Amino acid sequence: MGGQIKDRVVSRNMPPWHLDRTVGIQRFKNDTSLTDEQIATIVRWIDSGMAPGNPKDMPPAKMWPSDEGWQLAEQFGQPDIIVQSTPYTVPAVAQDAWWKPLTDVLPVTEPRWVRAVEMRPGSSAGAV
Ligand code: HEM
Repeated sequence: MGGQIKDRVVSRNMPPWHLDRTVGIQRFKNDTSLTDEQIATIVRWIDSGMAPGNPKDMPPAKMWPSDEGWQLAEQFGQPDIIVQSTPYTVPAVAQDAWWKPLTDVLPVTEPRWVRAVEMRPGSSAGAV
């Protein structure tokens, strides 16, 4: 892991900042690239064994929204139509897969405007 971080940061591939550093304007308000000193700090940290920092300085764990219910319900109310796709199981070890199921949006049979769409991955068929 450390080797990859070092490689990307030293080569300035990461964090992404697609600017030719040898020509033109170099000072931007939203510049997210690292300074040479910042890169040196990261490299020093990796080369010295990537010691963890003080756990007290860690940000609180991210709280993910519940996967029960609809995130957009507060704004738009409960959905008028719930369309369920055919179940698909992602293999534990495999290449990336782009699964594109086609599903009828019944009872809609004519062109209609849609106010909101929310995708909800589920772990059990039939869960609403
Ligand atoms: C110091 C901060 C960062 C480090 C050390 C870093 C490190 C890395 C590494 C090692 C990879 C390759 C992962 C792999 O091949 O499996 C990677 C890929 C990637 N990173 Fe970063 N990253 C940083 C910041 C960012 C930021 C801020 C963004 C977006 C704003 C970003 C977007 C990406 C993307 C899109 C890829 C995939 C690129 C591809 O596959 O061609 N990274 N990063």
